[in-house]
Parts: sequence; structure tokens; C-alpha cells
Amino acid sequence: MNTTQRFRIFNVVGARPNMMKIAPIIAEMRRHSDLHPVLVHTGQHYDFAMSQVFLQQLDLGEPDYNLQVGSGTHHSQTAQVIRTFGELVQNDRPDMIVVAGDVNSTVACALVGAKELIPVAHIESGLRSFDRQMPEEVNRVITDAIADLLFTTEQSAARNLMQEGVPSEKIFFTGNVMIDSLVTALAAARRSTILDQLGVRPQKYAVLTLHRPSNVDDPERLQSTLRAISEIAKDIPVIFPIHPRTAGRVSSLRIENIRDWSGTAAIGSQGIWTVPPASYLDFLCLMDSSAMMITDSGGVQEETTYLGIPCLTYRDNTERPVTITNGTNRLIGTSPAELVIAAKKALSEKHRNGHVPPPLWDGHAAERIVRVIRNYWNSNDIGKKIDRKRH
Ligand code: UD1
Repeated sequence: MNTTQRFRIFNVVGARPNMMKIAPIIAEMRRHSDLHPVLVHTGQHYDFAMSQVFLQQLDLGEPDYNLQVGSGTHHSQTAQVIRTFGELVQNDRPDMIVVAGDVNSTVACALVGAKELIPVAHIESGLRSFDRQMPEEVNRVITDAIADLLFTTEQSAARNLMQEGVPSEKIFFTGNVMIDSLVTALAAARRSTILDQLGVRPQKYAVLTLHRPSNVDDPERLQSTLRAISEIAKDIPVIFPIHPRTAGRVSSLRIENIRDWSGTAAIGSQGIWTVPPASYLDFLCLMDSSAMMITDSGGVQEETTYLGIPCLTYRDNTERPVTITNGTNRLIGTSPAELVIAAKKALSEKHRNGHVPPPLWDGHAAERIVRVIRNYWNSNDIGKKIDRKRH
């Protein structure tokens, strides 16, 4: 390793789930004097509750660059990230770009790297729902087709990538960085006072998250889903930390049994209670002590698998099959009636008996990823090329 030369790496975050994936990688990079990690925030998520609180709680600090792209249609948001990140990269060329997950910022920044001939590493590569109607699936396929280093969280991912023609030398099964963040934060999360603030007791409530366009954009569909959940909420209170995308839509519906938590009084013994988006530590705490999660999120399927909490995934597919084969996740489809049946069944069962997390979900994925990145820098002659470029 050339000790005088530092390898400058742009680590990109855009939306909330990117932060849990990039934080352990930056922390690990900071431990190596030959690496110079730079944090770039595209600004896809920008509210305090969707962005800054995560930067703080995950020790990411202030981003080195914030592109402030904000919201928009998928194409305009993606185009805006390409334009602003492209300008940044032309002015301040990194040696590598690390992107994570499947959000619009991921694919946009990967494209810039590919066009500028800068190596791109993709964290959480190879996951496939095989549903091209999901914007995230399109983002995953494109990002993986142009990335140079593909880091996977579960074994299904390498199979998917090889079927798409990705050479096996580019694929590294390094484990799940989201679980690295969870392992680091769990003790602090268990000290959170969120249960007291809401007035709930462990295992005596369920948590709901919903934000996928397929679940929330059609008012009729959202209405029938929430009616089903209000049926479940007759047996147990359902806490609903509400994503901004969903919040606007729920407010225009008329559903009995759904209430906004006032922030002062305790939530009741039944009903759906909307609460503001939770911070990372509060959300982990809520999840860890819940009787059951109902979700359409990818990250929640993984976190519940690690924690051994029953998870009902309200979707027709999952790109994370290991959470079903080795975890606590159940894919229940998108029928409201089936959701009620599955929830009543899950609530009647015992859980947390001798649960073993999937392979390499052990809190050390970032170490393995950074080892591969340093080897790449060493062995690929890339260091020499960068030296020539700089002198
Ligand atoms: C994005 C990701 C999704 C990820 C989710 C996590 C894509 C295609 N989707 O979806 O994969 O699971 O983030 O949350 O990238 N808004 C705010 N404040 C914010 C951010 C958004 O009010 O800080 C509102 C805006 O009205 C915006 C809407 O939420 O239009 C949706 O935000 P957007 O970034 O477009 O997608 P998400 O639904 O958050």
C-alpha cells in the first residue's frame, strides 16, 4: 500500500435508509490512514426528522457536500441528482464513488461515476423483487449493471447478478451493513424513552410503516388497507410513524379508529395512532419491544429478522428472501382481508425462541467491505493511475 497516497472516496447518501448503510462504512474508512472518506448528501430527504437526526445519531456529522436536490417526480429528482452530482465530480474528482441501496440518488450517482470513468461500489447489490413497477427495482438493476464492485447482503443476490451477466470477480458477499448500524446502536436505542412518551408497554403494541407508492398512492387502496389495520387495532394499539409521502394521503381519508397522537396524552389501548417519523434510536426501540411489525419497507424486514420480531410484509414480493427463509418475515401479499388474518395469527404466537440471524449479519460487514476496497486500490493499479493523473 502506498502510504503517502490517500484514496478519496465519495460516499453518497440521499434518502433515510442510505444513512444506516453508509455510516458503518465511513466509520471503518476513518480507521485507515490511506483512505479519505467524503460524505455527499444529495438532499433527496431534507426534513430534520428524515435526515439530520439520522446524521447525528449515526455519528455521520455534517455532510462535506449537500446538493439539496429536494423532492420531485422520479425523473426530475433523478435528473437533478445527475446534474448536480456530475458538476461536483467534475470539479472535485474522487477516486471512487460508494452508493448504497436502491433509491433515486443511488442510481443517479452511479451513472455519473460510470460516465466519468470513476469506479463505483454498490452496497446492497443484487437484491431483486423481479417487479419492474417498483422504482427501486429499476434503480437496482441499472446500478448493478454499471458498478465495478458489488457488495451483497445475502446469497440470493450473487445468483441474481450472475444471471444478469455480472462477472463473479466483481461480486463480494460481505454481509449486511444495516445490521452493523443496528448492532452499534442497540444499547443506546434500548435507553430511549419513546415507550414512556407514548405511554405503551413492551409487547403490548404493534408498529406500522407504509410508504411504497403501490400501497399509498391510490386512495381507495390505502383506505381499504387502513380499514383492515383498524380492525387489527381493535385488539392492540398500532403505532404508525408516518412517512411524509403517506401523511398527505392519509389526512384526506376518512377512517374510524385512526388518531393523531397529540404528543402529551398516552396513546389508548386500541386504535391506529399516527406519530411523527421516528428517529433512528426511537424507531429501533419501538421495533425491538413491539409485539409485531406490519410494513412495506425493505430495511424493517431485515431489522426484525435480526431482532427476532414477527414481521408481516404487506407486499406481493420481497427482494430479501433470506428474511423469510432464515428470519421472522412473512410475505402476506396485498389483500386487506389476509392482512387481518395474518396479524391475528402472529399475535397469538410466541416469538423470540433461539433465533439465529442470516450468515454475515454480524456487525462486521463494513470491515469486510473496506478490506475489499483497499485491496482494489492496491491490486488494480488504480493507485498508480491516480498518481499519474495528479502529477
Ligand atoms: C424514498 C425511496 C425509497 C425509500 C424511502 C425511504 C426512491 C425511488 N424511493 O422514497 O426506496 O424506501 O425513500 O424513506 O428513491 N418528503 C418530505 N420530506 C423529506 C423527504 C420527502 O416531506 O425529507 C416528501 C415529499 O413530499 C416527497 C415525498 O415525501 O415528494 C416522497 O419523497 P421521495 O424522496 O420522492 O421518495 P420516498 O417516498 O421517501
